[in-house]
Amino acid sequence: MKLRPPPAPASASSGVLARLRPHLTRLTAFLIVFSVGYSLGIMSSSIWPSPRPSQTVIRPHAAHLTASTAVPATNGTVAAVTNYPRSPPHDLFRFREECGDPVPSNAVVQTLLDKLFDGESPYADFPPPHTAALLHPAAERPRGWGSTGAVFAELIEEVRPDIIIELGAFLGASALHMAAVSKNLSLSPTILCIDDFRGWPAFRDRFRRDVPPPHHGDALLLPQFMSNVAAAGPDATARVLPLPFSTASTLTALCGWGIYADLIEVDAGHDFHSAWADINLAWAVLRPGGVMFGHDYFTSADDRGVRRAVTLFARVKNLTVRPHGQHWVLSPKPLHRDGR
Ligand SMILES: *[C@@H]1O[C@H](CO)[C@@H](O)[C@H](O)[C@H]1NC(C)=O
Ligand SMILES: *[C@@H]1O[C@H](CO)[C@@H](O)[C@H](O)[C@H]1NC(C)=O
Ligand SMILES: *[C@@H]1O[C@H](CO)[C@@H](O)[C@H](O)[C@H]1NC(C)=O
Repeated sequence: MKLRPPPAPASASSGVLARLRPHLTRLTAFLIVFSVGYSLGIMSSSIWPSPRPSQTVIRPHAAHLTASTAVPATNGTVAAVTNYPRSPPHDLFRFREECGDPVPSNAVVQTLLDKLFDGESPYADFPPPHTAALLHPAAERPRGWGSTGAVFAELIEEVRPDIIIELGAFLGASALHMAAVSKNLSLSPTILCIDDFRGWPAFRDRFRRDVPPPHHGDALLLPQFMSNVAAAGPDATARVLPLPFSTASTLTALCGWGIYADLIEVDAGHDFHSAWADINLAWAVLRPGGVMFGHDYFTSADDRGVRRAVTLFARVKNLTVRPHGQHWVLSPKPLHRDGR
């Protein structure tokens, strides 16, 4: 048996200290951390006062999104909202599916000129000399992507459209191709080109040779597009009308005005959310029996969301997707049950 060395003689107090030493170290460390943390807390609370609690607490829950929820009326009373129409305005997830009474095809251009351009064609006296001086010479075949694919001729021949809507027009390549194809088929559809004509951030890096230099921050894509259309002749300017606004705001307006298309090409924002909104909003202004198609199903741009948006939409609407070269084609929009 090993004998423990006898404890060194010590006073009572030093013995207590010795036993407390490890705890003292921990206690001291704790006090230091605590006091530093405490003073930092005081400092931060005096330098950056925490926001005062808001008077109103909003607790979103699913009941807010159902049709029979009681909602406060603007005059402060609570009105029960029941029997909402199919597209309740408070249901932000849904897209409107019913649009206004249809404007006859032969009145669409004049209706749009009246609503958007004070009744005058934007091509009248275009381009003024100061604008012409800023533009590239009009290209016979403007820069585009897949703009002359066989899908255009095939669908135009099949659908024989009176009205075509194009989302994403850029320099007019596919619009002018559709106009030429239609002419060859003895068709003369109106082609409405919806585009904000600003390109996208840094787009000029890739297309310096195709687009004019910016002018005081303006990308000049609208006058360049119009110049390209004008160079294709009076037949083109009579048919190809730019609607120079965002796709969402324009499609919403067309829906309200009752302007429908027989054929819609989707080739605007390629991220999922843009493509999803474009497809849904455009579907509402597609005439029953009409066809929607779009660019980018197999190219590298697909992964940014177009394919996912198209596939999801087809699934939700019970449609089929037909790949066609670089393009996708949805099965025709079903007719109303009464055959309209
Ligand atoms: C408040 O608005 C509701 C719905 O518009 C209406 O029925 C009610 O009479 C109004 N109340 C007052 C006090 O104006
Ligand atoms: C239209 O027809 C002409 C004459 O056949 C042809 O040269 C031209 O390529 C056609 N254009 C298109 C876009 O199909
Ligand atoms: C989906 O469409 C197919 C025809 O393409 C049809 O047979 C089927 O009944 C539809 N399903 C629903 C749920 O509408």
